[in-house]
Amino acid sequence: MARIKKEYPWVPLKQEDLDGKFDMVRIFGRTGPFHIEIGSGRGTFLLNQAQAHPGDNFLGIEWASRYYRYTVDKIGRWDISNVRLIRTEAASFIADFIPDNSVDCFHIYFPDPWPKKSHRKRRFICNSNLTNMIRCLKESGQIRVATDHEEYFEQMKSVFALSQDKLEEIDFLPTAGAETGEWVGTNFERKYLKEQRSIYTIALKKKSTIDF
Ligand SMILES: C[S@@+](CC[C@H](N)C(=O)[O-])C[C@H]1O[C@@H](n2cnc3c(N)ncnc32)[C@H](O)[C@@H]1O
Repeated sequence: MARIKKEYPWVPLKQEDLDGKFDMVRIFGRTGPFHIEIGSGRGTFLLNQAQAHPGDNFLGIEWASRYYRYTVDKIGRWDISNVRLIRTEAASFIADFIPDNSVDCFHIYFPDPWPKKSHRKRRFICNSNLTNMIRCLKESGQIRVATDHEEYFEQMKSVFALSQDKLEEIDFLPTAGAETGEWVGTNFERKYLKEQRSIYTIALKKKSTIDF
């Protein structure tokens, strides 16, 4: 018999409920370190990281309704109170709703690589999205990326290099849910490791004295 999906009203976030800006206290009922995962897929990172860091607040942004619903259900069933999920396109949501100097870390794990040359402009990591993420990061806030796609990884590094006055590279430490040999422990990482693909990671920290 199919499991009946329950409603978990504290997990989903709707753009129309935000009143124009993402207000942390209104949404989580408290302040605290703020993490955004872009393209949260099946929510494995959010579940593990939120359990490991109950004092931190997590927002997952996922545009595919199937994955979004799956993750709302997963977070709800585990009764995790410090995760919110929004089903929307991440670049425009961040540009329109996330305040300056408010984010501790952007997590971007296995972003769609859009391998066809004609599709590359759809890649999430690009100058305009990076500029926006830097705007949203607090001082010393981080951007963490993992991918299996070497060519996209090289392109990302050249995008990051254009902002080297604002960002410095730091060690990429494994996440709470990562098992031996894993960096982030997401579904895509596990699938690619089974296929014996190489995984590329990079972590960057916002420099503290930036004059925008
Ligand atoms: C390859 S999957 C990786 C999922 C997960 N991070 C993992 O590692 O298992 C990429 C995910 O990002 C989502 N996605 C891609 N571009 C997006 C965007 N601009 N806004 C929101 N979600 C996006 C896709 O729907 C998909 O679920």
